[in-house]
Amino acid sequence: MSTTMADQAAAAAPLVGAAFGDASSPLDVAALTRLANDLFNALPDGAIAGSSPFASAPPALGGFGAALPSTPRPDIPPLSAGVPGEAELRGLIAAALPLAAPAAPLRAGASLSPAFYFLENSPQVVSDPLVPAPSAHTPFDVEAVRRDFPILAERVDGRPLVWLDNAATTHKPRSVIERLSYFYEHENSNIHRAAHQLAARATDAYEDAREKVRGFLNAGSMDEIIFVRGATEGINLVAQSWGRRNIRAGDEILITWLEHHANIVPWHRLCAETGARLRVAPVDDHGQVLLDEYQRLLSDRTRLVSFTMVSNALGTVTPARQMVELARRAGARVLVDGAQAVSHMAVDVRALDCDWFVLSGHKVFGPTGIGAVYGKAEVLDSMPPWQSGGNMIEDVTFDRIRYHGAPARFEAGTGNIADAVGLGAAIDYVSRIGMANIARHEHDLIAYATLGLSQVPGLRIIGTAAEKAGVLSFVLAGVPAPEVGRLLAKEGIAVRSGHHCAQPILRRFGQEATVRPSFALYNTTADIDALIAAVQRIRSGAPLI
Ligand code: ALA
Repeated sequence: MSTTMADQAAAAAPLVGAAFGDASSPLDVAALTRLANDLFNALPDGAIAGSSPFASAPPALGGFGAALPSTPRPDIPPLSAGVPGEAELRGLIAAALPLAAPAAPLRAGASLSPAFYFLENSPQVVSDPLVPAPSAHTPFDVEAVRRDFPILAERVDGRPLVWLDNAATTHKPRSVIERLSYFYEHENSNIHRAAHQLAARATDAYEDAREKVRGFLNAGSMDEIIFVRGATEGINLVAQSWGRRNIRAGDEILITWLEHHANIVPWHRLCAETGARLRVAPVDDHGQVLLDEYQRLLSDRTRLVSFTMVSNALGTVTPARQMVELARRAGARVLVDGAQAVSHMAVDVRALDCDWFVLSGHKVFGPTGIGAVYGKAEVLDSMPPWQSGGNMIEDVTFDRIRYHGAPARFEAGTGNIADAVGLGAAIDYVSRIGMANIARHEHDLIAYATLGLSQVPGLRIIGTAAEKAGVLSFVLAGVPAPEVGRLLAKEGIAVRSGHHCAQPILRRFGQEATVRPSFALYNTTADIDALIAAVQRIRSGAPLI
């Protein structure tokens, strides 16, 4: 056990205390310091970076996952309850430990606005039990994970790639890349139609992927999983199939201010076609849905509620379960947009009790051009087809057509077979690591990044919800967001800067564009340190390195 690390943790305690000095709970810095020492002294020898039992896992197809635990390590001491600021301290320690990075770069005496409540669980938001509490320790070997993603070793303009654009798309582990190659080398065929051997292999692989998506979402049946191109196509499917049949003039569709354009435009168009009205639940100044306003907007006119589980622009995690329940009480059907959620947290559609849930494969380490819609069996059974052609019919004459049931009814034509199989491999990958472990790692990253970036003068974080996942949007005084993005790119740091296909929520905060670093399971505190240092240079006009 390194006393240096214990000293470092103890040194972080007063910094946490200073940083949270204006939060609602009084902090006992001495108690935090003692806690820091206790935590580190309780760790067994070799518990810190460089000695992971997983580091020697073979890097080949599927090689990473088998040895990984799906539960936290028993050798990490449990939380001692009741010390205010403990969660923050543990987040800092966890973020600093794996790479033996220096203690979080906070200035003594720094003060954070209570806006950063997400670091300690704001009472304003109903905590969603799907979002786990902060971790004691990084629950998997991030360096081993990074070795599974070949592109992370890429250099851009001679610099190491720092990939912080995961909300736009995620990279693919070798197991996904190799699964796609294997499909084309050994299984490629159209599905469901022919008697030959390759058709059987391809059909099995495709339906096996459907079963993996079912398990990933904890749906009750494979028949509730429809393959589509992505979340956008999934929402359009529901709007055009269920929406056109069920929405009438005078009905209301309720969304929130947080939505991506993909969860605004289809409903806007449906309202224009039918004479229905689009209502929008507002958010507070932290970017959290105002639940009392949301509730007030629900009425017997509300036929459909459609909202995101995680905002792609701000990172807000919505209290999805509670929102579904409130919508149900009003008699509305509910669609949950899971595009930004599925790579960050476990999803259980039966616990959520939504009617539909949509996701995009490329946001969860799978290929582009593939996604899925979960739909409750009884709802899908009531929905007409939306696209028409082969594969979705049982029998055709020139006079009448009989359609298959779900899911085939909604999969007209030849689908994206290989990429569905690739999505199955991506689900296998994250499942081996464990979504709860991924969520804990990312929570620590976002806490670390928030604390670090908030020290940059002139930097304003846009979206300070109590529960955030994956995304950290900001603006920098005096430097337009696109320019920050361009300058970061010159240092090899990839972020998205712009409106993120979510103009209404950015305008709610007076912005046309933000800089948006976004995180995934393979990001490290070193990535964040590189980002913070580069933003500091941009802000001070120092030469780029
Ligand atoms: N929806 C993706 C994003 O947020 C493209 O960047």
